[in-house]
Amino acid sequence: MLRPSNRCSRRRRYHVDTAAVRCCVLFLIVLGSCSDLGDPEVLLPQIVISTTQIDYATVTIGSPQARHLQIVNRGEGELHGELSLLQDDTAFIVQPSGQFLLLPGDTLAVELIFTPAAALNYSGQIVISSDDPENPEHLITLTGEGTALPVPALTVSNSSLNFGTILTGSSSHQQITLSSTGNDTLLISSIDFDRGEYSIDANTPLELNPGASQLITISFQSGVAGVFDGSMTIISNSPSTPDVVSLIGEAEAPVSYAGSVQPVWNSSCGGCHGSNGGLNLSSYTTLMAGSNSGPTVTIGDGPNSLLIRRLRGEVGTRMPQNGPALPDETIGNIETWINQGALDN
Ligand code: HEC
Repeated sequence: MLRPSNRCSRRRRYHVDTAAVRCCVLFLIVLGSCSDLGDPEVLLPQIVISTTQIDYATVTIGSPQARHLQIVNRGEGELHGELSLLQDDTAFIVQPSGQFLLLPGDTLAVELIFTPAAALNYSGQIVISSDDPENPEHLITLTGEGTALPVPALTVSNSSLNFGTILTGSSSHQQITLSSTGNDTLLISSIDFDRGEYSIDANTPLELNPGASQLITISFQSGVAGVFDGSMTIISNSPSTPDVVSLIGEAEAPVSYAGSVQPVWNSSCGGCHGSNGGLNLSSYTTLMAGSNSGPTVTIGDGPNSLLIRRLRGEVGTRMPQNGPALPDETIGNIETWINQGALDN
């Protein structure tokens, strides 16, 4: 969305003598560099891929080892792409493969399996092509070695975890499965985080027999607002060690009803909303009791709450009736309070 208009904001300097030539040059610059002015907004996709390289290290012949990667569309337009695998034989399998479509914000989880057939070094390459103009082709190198000896192996169910957005002071949880997929006992000696917002419920060391698995819960919590990119590092006797899982979570400060919502009612609505429309805005309880048309607040859904729609003038008479609209920022703040669960805080 930003990229096409950036093109037009590039500044150029021309030193010319007469006003007429200057004017003409200006006209040509406008014509030449901003010919897309007035076109409908172009929504671009943005591909984000969690890795560029996967090394399976040493794997026992005939024992399949899985790795995972995620393709995310962080842009604002649909992402069309294709996943293809290049290799000499059939040691690697990628699922799904071929064409894919990702809507903005969506994630495609891809599983990559390596099964060596002999005591050899194997390599392959995944090519991910897409219509993201900034990253039309992304390559991922796959390597692994087959051995006849029993080898312990760790398979982690996710290469990244998204904890979403939480309120400061609260927490959110995600689960991950650690599987012992080799044919020797897996010993996990430590699981560490690079930042204090993340923690787990499991104690290390952890011993897992071949075929066993363990579900662990990872918690995210923060006392301050912000975006927290982190990672979890698992150290084990698997040749893949260290196994790293990337973590992302966001915390935002809760909007206080008493501190910044009720005061708006008191100054801009109270005069009429003892009863008009069946809506009493004198307290949290009366607001949540609703109006003639039912609830005015749809908890968790600010944009579709009648209250917000009336403040924006999207339905019926814009509120406050006969008065100037509330500033966008004030409406946005009330909307955030509803999105955050319309708490009596
Ligand atoms: C000058 C008087 C007046 C003011 C000020 C006013 N309102 Fe209203 N409001 C009304 C009247 C009258 C109705 C009922 C008629 C209608 O639905 O338009 C109403 C209806 C509503 C409704 C719809 C209720 C329903 O059941 O459909 C909402 C929501 C609302 N107001 C919110 C507000 C908010 C929030 C404010 C302050 C920012 C506000 N109003 C300020 C007079 C007012």
